[in-house]
Amino acid sequence: MIFMFLVTSAAGHTGTIITQALVNAGYDVLATDINPRVKDLPGIKAAKVGDLTNLDFLKDLLTDVDQIAYIPPLFSPEEALIGQTLVDLAIANHVQQFIFISVTHPILHTLLQHVAKRDVEEHLIYQGMAHSLTYTILQPMHYMHNFNPKQVQQDLTYGIFYDIHAKVAYVDPEDVAAVVVKVAQKPAFHDKATYELVGTQAYSPVELVAQFNALTGLQAQAKYVPVTQFLDQIQATDLYFRAGFQQLADSYSRWGLDGNPNVLRYLLGREPTSFTAYLKRELQS
Ligand SMILES: NC(=O)c1ccc[n+]([C@@H]2O[C@H](COP(=O)([O-])OP(=O)(O)OC[C@H]3O[C@@H](n4cnc5c(N)ncnc54)[C@H](OP(=O)(O)O)[C@@H]3O)[C@@H](O)[C@H]2O)c1
Repeated sequence: MIFMFLVTSAAGHTGTIITQALVNAGYDVLATDINPRVKDLPGIKAAKVGDLTNLDFLKDLLTDVDQIAYIPPLFSPEEALIGQTLVDLAIANHVQQFIFISVTHPILHTLLQHVAKRDVEEHLIYQGMAHSLTYTILQPMHYMHNFNPKQVQQDLTYGIFYDIHAKVAYVDPEDVAAVVVKVAQKPAFHDKATYELVGTQAYSPVELVAQFNALTGLQAQAKYVPVTQFLDQIQATDLYFRAGFQQLADSYSRWGLDGNPNVLRYLLGREPTSFTAYLKRELQS
């Protein structure tokens, strides 16, 4: 019997990168997603297409799984229930390690997706203590892939749905994936740890574009797009998804989002990837 490394939401922005890093590190990955393109991920051992809100599907997923990287789906109203159920099933199935890819500052109540992750973290901590489940919580900052350099190069505009002067910190998803591999390789060493993964200082959209222009010599501009207009443009009709983005727009515009890169530097054993290095890599790819 092969014991697999289960990655959820594996076909998404974050999941694709984390799956690839685990495959490259030699793990037998079972990738799951509601999106059938999960079957095309290179190097995986198996794929299961299905809905994480379905209990039978979750039970089936946990058969013969040794380690889990749980990436929650983006803006699911059942996000907390999915995570809590996965924790319980991991315990029932004697899973060796549960890695929860959460978010920086899950205690912030102004963001729907943070509140859901807070509830899962709490459940994981209680259940981890009660049942000696080996777990690690990773808390990534806002991902750099939210800024698409090739799109900005093409449009000469960075359209964004919050105040273009509000400052948000970033992390490179490749750095997060590198940490997932390190944590997976030493489950006991990282057991019961919660790590904030912050890569950069906080930058406003105007400052991001200034870095882009300095690198490329172009004259792109940051442009505020009201969040409802943005949601209509991407044809987002799901009410929970729209409410989540509305909160994101309001919270970032009012408070921004910030954190400290010390923990990520310690875990990587090097400087986290800078925003300019991310731009260079993506523009060359
Ligand atoms: N974006 C950030 O800056 C950031 C920062 C920290 C944490 N996070 C968190 O990271 C997580 C992943 O974000 P992401 O940007 O990688 O999202 P994403 O690209 O939308 O990927 C999510 C994947 O989950 C799939 N999915 C949706 N509902 C599902 C369900 N019920 N069952 C199974 N699969 C389902 C989606 O399929 P479809 O595409 O077909 O819907 C998609 O492939 C989210 O929880 C987010 O809150 C994001």
